[in-house]
Amino acid sequence: MGRVSQHHQPDLERRLVLELARVTETAALNASGFVGLGDKHALDAAATNAMREVLSQMQISGRVVIGEGEMDEAPMLFIGEQLGAGGIEIDIAVDPVEGTEVAARGLPRCIAVIAASHRGGLLGAPDMYMDKLVVAAPAAGKVSLEYTPAQNLEIIAVSLERKVEDLTVAVLDRARHEGLIAAIRACGARVKLIADGDVIAALAVAVRGTGVHALMGSGGAPEGVLTAAALKCLGAEIQARFLPSSDAELKRCQLMGIDCSRVYRTEDLAPGREIVFAATGITDSELLGGVRRFAGGVRTHSIALGYATRVVRFLDTVHLEADGARVNIRV
Ligand code: FBP
Repeated sequence: MGRVSQHHQPDLERRLVLELARVTETAALNASGFVGLGDKHALDAAATNAMREVLSQMQISGRVVIGEGEMDEAPMLFIGEQLGAGGIEIDIAVDPVEGTEVAARGLPRCIAVIAASHRGGLLGAPDMYMDKLVVAAPAAGKVSLEYTPAQNLEIIAVSLERKVEDLTVAVLDRARHEGLIAAIRACGARVKLIADGDVIAALAVAVRGTGVHALMGSGGAPEGVLTAAALKCLGAEIQARFLPSSDAELKRCQLMGIDCSRVYRTEDLAPGREIVFAATGITDSELLGGVRRFAGGVRTHSIALGYATRVVRFLDTVHLEADGARVNIRV
């Protein structure tokens, strides 16, 4: 078995990996009470409050770099907010509910998600669209956002040792993707249209056996940074280009030092030498089950990753009711 280098002890990861899974579990548990009830604001508020409370109690000096919005837009978990009871200095990227709309409608692919690194270890991306290309480890370093979908599909097929016809590409179901969808289908590959949630779709690409082989198209840039944190831990790849859609967004990019002509790679979006990532399913997805309630408790499914510690944890956790009266766990 490979060993973690003795020269660099991944202290941040060891201290935080399970703690951050507890953070996303708590957010997911609180959000789950609102799944399918049609009120996305209540669902988001429940998860955001819960996530913030757990983070506030942790032994960290955290700074939110990707959050619920700018300070004047979001009441909590806003960009720049300082969190924690004091301790290890970290930057945090959060999305307490990634896929608010789908969860409120009881549909798949909603997660609670967080990533952390040392200061400067995660790019502070402005809230705008970003063109994305996500591939699994075998195709990493071979594809390019500069290539056509047809060229990339050919490379992915060769890397995964399958035919282009046997590839499935996740694409957000948006009118802006009409041309992309037609181009993918013209190659014979299949398109899996997703209503929301490109972070968990990207994670599914990085893990074999999920039936999704690439993600293409534009989605949120903050989600792109969260995706990069996870993919770096999994050896997979995201390539992305910022897509400012107004002068104000362009100006914001300039202020933040973002080069809109450049392709950002996994390492550019998540440069930290230690990275921790955790996500918990709120509703079902290709990779994680959603929160399941039963008599006596609730079950959650999470993934917790460390880059330097080289761990991929799948956590299947039962949270029992406080009174302990009706314990009824299934395997
Ligand atoms: P939320 O976190 O706001 O629920 O985002 C959901 C999401 O589908 C992301 O996964 C994706 O990156 C983005 O929205 C796409 O944005 P849009 O819905 O504007 O196309």
